[in-house]
Amino acid sequence: MAYEIANPLNFWYNQGMAEKKKLMTAPSVLAADFSHMAEEISLIERSGADWIHFDIMDGSFVPQITFGHKFVSDMRQLSSLPFDIHLMVNHPETMVDTFAEAGSDWIIFHVEATVHIHRLIQRIRLLGKKPGISLVPSTPVSAITPILSVVDQILVMSVNPGFGGQQMLDFSLDKIKELDQIRREKGYTYLISVDGGINRHTVESVRAAGADVVVAGSAFFGDKDPASVLKILRDGEELL
Ligand code: DX5
Ligand code: ZN
Repeated sequence: MAYEIANPLNFWYNQGMAEKKKLMTAPSVLAADFSHMAEEISLIERSGADWIHFDIMDGSFVPQITFGHKFVSDMRQLSSLPFDIHLMVNHPETMVDTFAEAGSDWIIFHVEATVHIHRLIQRIRLLGKKPGISLVPSTPVSAITPILSVVDQILVMSVNPGFGGQQMLDFSLDKIKELDQIRREKGYTYLISVDGGINRHTVESVRAAGADVVVAGSAFFGDKDPASVLKILRDGEELL
């Protein structure tokens, strides 16, 4: 301990780490092996994840189809971690009741996929779930200005939705910064989460921009040591 204090490099390092914001982590099961879901959910839990992210794709809002409420409800038997349900579907208002019943904690829908977003936020809250709004990369923050005070999470897509394993689009960082600034100015309490292309190389820019939660699919399931990936995403990479 005395050595650590006497060592200026360690002192600098400890100071730096103290200032670094910790992020919550949400592995996305999109990149999991669906033939071994019990093992994959157990891996997420053992690795210290905060939430589990589920990508619901309908083949219309995005080209692919993934899984529905039955899958979510079956996974609910395997974990008590918060379920972050990302609805990449058109007309999400037709599905929120079913996904609420399936065991969701967060229900996130896309502002581009429905008209009455304020009503749908109220509906999700009435169902006892936490409502979130997501923006595709080309949608500006101004599209959701009127509802920022009534939503609990903004999911900023940092890739075009529909596929895992894409590269983060750097211009998403400006939206994270803008959302963080509005939150500070107005005293809003929404969480800012970021989804797409998050890995050990991109996470620092997202952390610096003001994010609170990072979703990671391929960076988590594609690594030999997923627990260490989550640690890096949460705390930052050790410099020494
Ligand atoms: C993309 C999904 C993401 C996806 C992220 O449309 O919303 O949640 O799983 O995958 P990676 O982390 O591989 O970019
Ligand atoms: Zn997602």
